[in-house]
Amino acid sequence: MQVLAIVGAYLYPADFDMTSKPTATSFTFPHRHLLGIEGLSAEDITGLLDLSEEFVVLNREVEKKRATLRGRTQINLFFEASTRTQSSFELAGKRLGADVMNMSVSTSSVKKGETLIDTAATLNAMHPDVLIVRHSASGAVELLARKIDCSVVNAGDGAHEHPTQALLDALTIRRNKGRIEGLTVAICGDILHSRVARSNILLLHRLGAQVRVVGPSTLLPRDIDRFGVDVHRDMKSGLDGVDIVMMLRLQRERMNGSFVPSVKEYFHYWGLDEAKLRYAKPDALVMHPGPMNRGVEIDSAVADGAQSLIREQVEMGVAVRMAVLDALSRNLPNA
Ligand code: NCD
Repeated sequence: MQVLAIVGAYLYPADFDMTSKPTATSFTFPHRHLLGIEGLSAEDITGLLDLSEEFVVLNREVEKKRATLRGRTQINLFFEASTRTQSSFELAGKRLGADVMNMSVSTSSVKKGETLIDTAATLNAMHPDVLIVRHSASGAVELLARKIDCSVVNAGDGAHEHPTQALLDALTIRRNKGRIEGLTVAICGDILHSRVARSNILLLHRLGAQVRVVGPSTLLPRDIDRFGVDVHRDMKSGLDGVDIVMMLRLQRERMNGSFVPSVKEYFHYWGLDEAKLRYAKPDALVMHPGPMNRGVEIDSAVADGAQSLIREQVEMGVAVRMAVLDALSRNLPNA
């Protein structure tokens, strides 16, 4: 014992308490599904972020495999097109040892008129352990979760929530700024159609950040006052003194009227270029969930510039999704 204590004294600083410090690995996530940030406590969020850090390290190693989900089946059910989210969930599941199946909706019975509930019942019969769902209707993922026996993760439902995006954004911010609490974050552009904005507002508030939304009135939800954010209708005041500038894609596929006069005009007023970025703090960092419309909401010089965290967000996405799958797997039957 004494020898160990002596060795320990050389390996660790005197104030490092080896016994009482909880490791992320011992954290318990008290939920069966991840349907949104709403419903998560600050401890749940911090626990997931701490666990993600372990996967960031693992993902930079040559051998990236864990056996956490060995024998488990993960189905990615995407009713809406997705590049990074779907591939990120696929990699996350595979690195944890799950059998991952991507269910393509364009070739599925959904196109032939099968209802969401029928799809749920069909999938249920295949005994998946985790179902990752993206759907164009807000609330569809929660409905599915009520009809299916396995764990469900929301990969984006309509303009409602996209919890893993908010978690990966928080991880990226925390790694670069060292904290979330006390930061000022401006979320800019098409807030109205954005589930990313909603999940981020909830998470950033829960961890003690100040949130502003910046955009034209046509792209702000009518009930924006309920969100407890500061609303700015021009980029100069909106970006003034902020730590993080989070740009959103102009979601033209969700617009059925004229929300913006023209793309050129939108870029002029709302597109983030180097001149507008100077309104923010000199050490402000730029984020975008992707896919980016270069020259519409963001200029290439900023997207690829020294203040951009956009590539890092993609890296953090895999780690966060591994943490979510790992945390949920601890609550699976026979775990
Ligand atoms: C976002 C989404 O699908 O909500 N993208 C993503 O998940 N990376 C944002 C968007 O589509 O603009």
